[in-house]
Amino acid sequence: MATIGVFDSGIGGLTVLNEALRQAPAHHYIYLADSANAPYGEKSSEWVATRSLDLCHWLVREGCQALVVACNTATAEAIAHIRHEMPAIPIIGVEPGIKPAVTKSQNQKVGVLATQNTLKSDKFKALLESLEGNCEFISQAGLGLVPLIESGAINSPETEQLLREHLAPLQEAQIDTLVLGCTHYPFLAPLIRKILGAEIEIIDTSDAVVKQLSRKLEEFHLLQSAPPRTIRLYSTLDADALLAHAKQLIPLALDQHSIETSTVF
Ligand code: SIN
Repeated sequence: MATIGVFDSGIGGLTVLNEALRQAPAHHYIYLADSANAPYGEKSSEWVATRSLDLCHWLVREGCQALVVACNTATAEAIAHIRHEMPAIPIIGVEPGIKPAVTKSQNQKVGVLATQNTLKSDKFKALLESLEGNCEFISQAGLGLVPLIESGAINSPETEQLLREHLAPLQEAQIDTLVLGCTHYPFLAPLIRKILGAEIEIIDTSDAVVKQLSRKLEEFHLLQSAPPRTIRLYSTLDADALLAHAKQLIPLALDQHSIETSTVF
């Protein structure tokens, strides 16, 4: 039986956990939200790399046999370091879905909304460079959005106003496809559609991440057929708040699982 650890700077990785519970419910999941330290998007690269590795070691001590770094910033800044330090564990990261966006875009104008750290990372720059010539990319840092999402203000006028400011340059550039390069942002998809119009193609990579997780579980002989359906939700800030967010944001996925919560660190 596989125990899978999923971590994020906060509640954003719930979007990945949601998809994992939908596609691969037959596992134990441990979700760790480092909400005491969110957002990661504006912290130093060194800090993100050290903290991410600490959290991965903690998850392995809790019994995890596979890890999902469900945070774009931590993937961009730390995944190479984590894989180097933990070579025996399958480690799956999240990457902005630039390649699917290039395929989907009709007018070859693709917007990317991500954290400042993700946009300036070498990993992201290399990804864009590999696809340049196929499309025009317009990148925008979503400064301030993660703290609002963490506070639960997902549909608030303040969030809508900030989102309008961040999306304005992408609107001006007439993008027809928007890549959500932070796992927190899929929670804003309804507001994004309200601002950019229903026709906008929104690319979220949770589905691809979970497919990759399943491939790795198979490769490491960790696939499970009898469903234990348990989830442990851990927060470095407030486990009750994390559970409340999860119940509000991913209720269907949680419905069929037994859940334990705890505040850690
Ligand atoms: C953040 O903590 O700033 C966002 C995490 C992410 O990039 O997914």
